[in-house]
Amino acid sequence: QRNVARIVADGARLLGPASGDQACGEIGDGRMLEPEELRDELIAHFQPKCLAGRRVLITAGPTFEAIDPVRGITNLSSGKMGFAIARAAAEAGAVVTLVAGPVHLPTPRGVARIDVRSAEQMLAAVLPLARSHDIFVATAAVADWRPAATSEHKIKKDGTGATPALAFVENPDILATVAHLPVAERPWCVGFAAESHDVVRHARDKRLRKGIPLIVANHGPSTFGRDDNALVLVDADGERELPRSDKLRLARALVAEIAARAPRAARTVA
Ligand code: CTP
Repeated sequence: QRNVARIVADGARLLGPASGDQACGEIGDGRMLEPEELRDELIAHFQPKCLAGRRVLITAGPTFEAIDPVRGITNLSSGKMGFAIARAAAEAGAVVTLVAGPVHLPTPRGVARIDVRSAEQMLAAVLPLARSHDIFVATAAVADWRPAATSEHKIKKDGTGATPALAFVENPDILATVAHLPVAERPWCVGFAAESHDVVRHARDKRLRKGIPLIVANHGPSTFGRDDNALVLVDADGERELPRSDKLRLARALVAEIAARAPRAARTVA
């Protein structure tokens, strides 16, 4: 303990200890971090701290809208891009909150994660957090519609071949809701536009429609579930391409672009 205190006082950054099974048979603090964790910590340490002191709120993944207790509608978003942005923002020194739909991804180190399922739950998680964050990055592929009613019991076939009539209602637009909060409560908003055609034209329209300063366009079908992506940043000044690369590299480049654009307002962490 004394040696550790001395090392920290000398200005060195300590990685670990991790907690768990010890060689001596005890369980608790004292393990070496896993080699992959040490590698990631080192890489993170040497990233530019362009978001130091800022709070970033991110939505990621799909949403799942229940039809009955065993089925629902969702989409092909894997959450990988949003999780990569969360990791890149944390590496850049931000305090990061990640609101995630149903995905199978580990939480990036140092990121606070809130798991939700439906669009309504995502909105309910995001809204109270918006005012305490400086930047909001909406990467979630929120389901546009949900079933008008969720059956309490599993809907059964009745043997006649009749199919259930499903009616839908529109989900709340989480990004637009945050973007229209009063100015003093509103983080600087970044949207994503997943399109299947005319990517940039749709992104330009969407940026204006949602009232946000920056939208990041990508081609949905060629990125969902993959480890790489290509992005086009669309803001009031025009477009800028971030060429195809793995999602973490792209996320780091995007974080640098966001840091350069988002005003360092009074909303920064004390
Ligand atoms: N978004 C959101 N809430 C919704 C729908 C979308 O927060 N209910 C956000 C997404 O996270 C993304 C942006 O809005 O940042 C655009 O999402 P996208 O699905 O591309 O667009 P839509 O608004 O659904 O428009 P359209 O269906 O016409 O493409």
